Amino acid sequence: MKIRTLALLALCLLVACSDGNDDSRGTNIEQSVRALVAQMTLEDKIAQMAGEGSVLLPEGEQFWTVPGVERLGLPPFKMADGPRGVGTVEGATTFPVGMARGATWDPQLEQRVGAAIGRELRAAGGNVLLAPTINNLRHPSWGRSQETYGEDVHHLARMAVAFVRGVQEYALANPKHYAANSIEDTRFQVNVTIDERTLREVYLPQFRAAVIEGKAASLMSAYNSVNAQFCGENEQLLRQILKTDWGFDGFVLSDWVLGTQSTLGSALNGLDLEMPVARFYGDNLLAAVTDGRVPESVIDEAVSRMVRKKLEFGLDRPSGLDVSEIGSKAHLALARDVAVNGSVLLQNNGGVLPLSASAHPRIVVAGALADMPNTGDSGSSDTRPTFVVTPLQGIEELFGDMVTIDHIGKDVLNPADLARVQAADAVIVVTGLTAADEGEGLIGAGDRLELGLSAQRTQLIRDAAAVNDRTIVVLEGGGAITMGDWLADIEALLMVWYPGQMGGYAIADLLFGEANPSGKLPITFPASLEQLPPFDNESLEVTYQYFHGYRYVDRNDSTPEFPFGFGLSYTSFAIERLRASQIQAGAGDVVRFSVDVKNTGTRAGAEVVQLYVNYPGSVVPRAERELMGFARVFLEPGETQTVEIPLAVNRLAYYDVTQGAWVLEGLQHEVRLGTSSRDLPLSIMLSVAAQQDVSVE
Ligand code: BGC
Repeated sequence: MKIRTLALLALCLLVACSDGNDDSRGTNIEQSVRALVAQMTLEDKIAQMAGEGSVLLPEGEQFWTVPGVERLGLPPFKMADGPRGVGTVEGATTFPVGMARGATWDPQLEQRVGAAIGRELRAAGGNVLLAPTINNLRHPSWGRSQETYGEDVHHLARMAVAFVRGVQEYALANPKHYAANSIEDTRFQVNVTIDERTLREVYLPQFRAAVIEGKAASLMSAYNSVNAQFCGENEQLLRQILKTDWGFDGFVLSDWVLGTQSTLGSALNGLDLEMPVARFYGDNLLAAVTDGRVPESVIDEAVSRMVRKKLEFGLDRPSGLDVSEIGSKAHLALARDVAVNGSVLLQNNGGVLPLSASAHPRIVVAGALADMPNTGDSGSSDTRPTFVVTPLQGIEELFGDMVTIDHIGKDVLNPADLARVQAADAVIVVTGLTAADEGEGLIGAGDRLELGLSAQRTQLIRDAAAVNDRTIVVLEGGGAITMGDWLADIEALLMVWYPGQMGGYAIADLLFGEANPSGKLPITFPASLEQLPPFDNESLEVTYQYFHGYRYVDRNDSTPEFPFGFGLSYTSFAIERLRASQIQAGAGDVVRFSVDVKNTGTRAGAEVVQLYVNYPGSVVPRAERELMGFARVFLEPGETQTVEIPLAVNRLAYYDVTQGAWVLEGLQHEVRLGTSSRDLPLSIMLSVAAQQDVSVE
């Protein structure tokens, strides 16, 4: 055994030192993969194609394990969730949820989050992170809305690539759930029917980007079926699109337990690894290979994919990281920064925010959530932070010696409470949703069929607003919340999502003006449920249409409560002088749009410039406006910067189902820029020459 291990180490060293260029390194890895797989018995190989252990992670265990081959020096995979931090590691940093991070519109920051989580995972001894969740949010009723980044496929793709790159500085990322997993309560059985164009344009591009640009090492298949084939054995999704069209060289693992539905179908159609334990693989797969129903070449391919990633990521070598990484000061500071940048100021009548100690010396902080740790779902994305800074703690710790804080920690206010609220210079009502309202199906609260707040929490806001005309609502939750008429009763509204373990500090900083809000909604906040497509979490047959989110609201000409891309600041910005590097373009061109952004207010702050395209005269139904680029810019008061947003023309193509190809239309495209999907003051026409069969990768 020792000799083999040494032989492998020597081989790896050779690979690491031979360097030259990526190609030669790649060739060497491929040679090593072949050499290693050739030394494995069929039993060795089959053992690597399923997790070992039990359905539930036993108490005290941090990772799900997939065996390696010890005598060949091949280490096991050690997997942990998840999307807001390393879930099963005590004290790992709890970041704001994916939706909050989506609201930063800041891929660079997201890459740092990915890197921090990857580092903590590796330091704890893990090597595969079961994240990011990148399902397109078809409807905010989805119980796991909080885990993903939003409802727009371009924005999702940018955030997904960033997170994957960050994680993969240290460990393997596992974007999930491939694909069209956006209903919780029927997730194990539902069949999602999607036409090919919708699938390719709306539900897959972020996975394509994670694979091709992000070089994701692995992917998790979804529980549901797509077009009548379970995702864990879906020939079109796994074999054709992922492994052939996109050239994915990593491995696919199933979602837990019910994510694998067969031995033959799964193995033949491209599921490389059954998790968390062998049910259809293991002995069943061994028998299928032995009696010729599954060719051994299929097994070799699956195992090669996993071995390749073990070698590429150097999983056989010590990480050099120690446990001081876990919940480190630097990571906690990052979590706080992200919570600041992901909070969205939705209303600020009369500039009531930021609060100041001189104008508002007596403040009431009200609501059952004010002093409650509220970091999100209790399902698989749950984490184990050693502490959580609640909004009340954040306010008290940072501003408690400047203002008098009166805490009313409940949702039902009696006359005495109301008298306290009335006597205050301002009231901060902390409310929203918790893990009891939304989350993963079966192990969490599942889908959320009503988008409004509970009657009790609505009443809390109304009661406070009735006696205090400086009512500020801090809203927590993982997705869109409908406001109803209480919105008109309050002065300010700050959407903070589930802001992570440092959220309380971020909220305090934002409310008191130590930080300036700059988040933008990554989803539409509709005025009512009726403005959205139907959400059916009972039927086992659903159809996903081409339009959802802002594209649906725009198409129906509805007026949402707050549009996609919207968010206020304590300062003001002017954007002017839109120009393009060219106004006639063709396939393969990248057109650069630039605009001057000026901070016209008195505080430093960040703005997110957004570029949308519309397609007048298209032969297929298209979005009224579609996000195609964005850039975040930080400006001191009075400062102007030129912001450039590139647009790869091929991305304007639609998927032509009859040809099975991407087609660029010969159109005058209207390119519009502004600061939300409904505030696009600048526009320019871009004439594009028609071209059949363009590459969008
Ligand atoms: C979830 C996955 C998660 C896995 C392991 C499943 O139920 O859908 O997202 O990674 O459990 O916890």
